[in-house]
Amino acid sequence: MSPQIEAFDGAIGAAVTDVDLSQDLDASSQKTLIDAWNAHSVLVFRDQKVTPEQLLRFSRYFGSLETHVLEQYLHREHPEVLVVSNILKDGKNIGIPDAGRYWHTDLSYLAEPSRGSILYAIEIPEENGETLGNTLWASTAAAYEALPEAKRKQLEGLTAEYSLGNRFNKLVEDGNKDAKMSAEQIDKTPPVTHPIVRTHPITARKSILVNEGHTTHIHGLSEVDSRTLLEELWAHCTKPEFTYRHVWQPGDVVMWDNVPTQHLAVCDYALPQRRLLHRTTLTGDRPY
Ligand code: OGA
Ligand code: MN
Repeated sequence: MSPQIEAFDGAIGAAVTDVDLSQDLDASSQKTLIDAWNAHSVLVFRDQKVTPEQLLRFSRYFGSLETHVLEQYLHREHPEVLVVSNILKDGKNIGIPDAGRYWHTDLSYLAEPSRGSILYAIEIPEENGETLGNTLWASTAAAYEALPEAKRKQLEGLTAEYSLGNRFNKLVEDGNKDAKMSAEQIDKTPPVTHPIVRTHPITARKSILVNEGHTTHIHGLSEVDSRTLLEELWAHCTKPEFTYRHVWQPGDVVMWDNVPTQHLAVCDYALPQRRLLHRTTLTGDRPY
C-alpha cells in the first residue's frame, strides 16, 4: 500500500488515501507525504484511528515537535499533544476551547512560528444531521500571487508586530471574560517582529503572514494606515477562491503547512455538543 494523493479543486488541499497512520510508514511513503504537504499545503486523511503515541510517531516524520505555551491544555501523558476541546471536567476545560476563533497561523507570535500542525478528530459536534465546528484554510501564497504588482511592491520590506496577547485581548472584547494568560505565559511570549510577506523555506513561494489573530500593527505606518492595510490584506487572503472548508468526521486527520496558509475554526456549537481533537505542532524557522 502506498499513499495516493488527489488534489482538491481550487487553490489549496489534497485528499490522501491508501495509508494507515497507526502504522509505521516506510521512507518512500514518508517522502510522498512530505512532497504532497509542500505542494498542497493541507492534507486530509479520512477514517483513521490513532493513539497519542501513533499520532506522535506520524508527526515526527515531518520534523520536531513543540510543547505549547498554554500548558493547562496539554495532554497529561503526552505534553506534545495539545488537546483542542470545549469539554469540561470538574468545571474545567480539558482542552483549549476556541483554538482557532480568528484567522491565524499557528504560533506566529513566536520568533520561530510553527512549520505545520496536525489535528486528529475524536468527537465532532452536530445538530439535526448537520456537522458543526468546521475549519477553513486559506492559501496565503495563492492570495499573494493574485495581488497586483503595485501592491506586492508596496508590501516589500514591511514588518509587523505579532503577539499572543492580541488573541486574548480579542477574546475578551468578544465577551469571553475567562480568557486570560498567566504572568508566566505573558513573560514567555513577548511581542515579535516578522515580515508581512514571507518566503517558503522549501518551495520559495511567497505568502502573506499578517493575520487577524496575532498581528497588532505594521511598523512605520500610522495607526489608521496600518489598520486599513491589515484589514485589506485579511479580507483578500480569506476570499472563497483561496480557501478550503473542512467538514470534520471523527477519525479525520488534517495536517497543514503553516507557512503558506492561515486557518479559522468556526465556533458555531456549544455544550452539550462536544468537540474533541488532538493536535501536534511542528517546530519552524524564523520567517524571512
Ligand atoms: C488549531 C486550530 C482549529 C479547529 O488547533 O491550531 O486552529 O478547528 N484549530 O479546532
Ligand atoms: Mn490554529
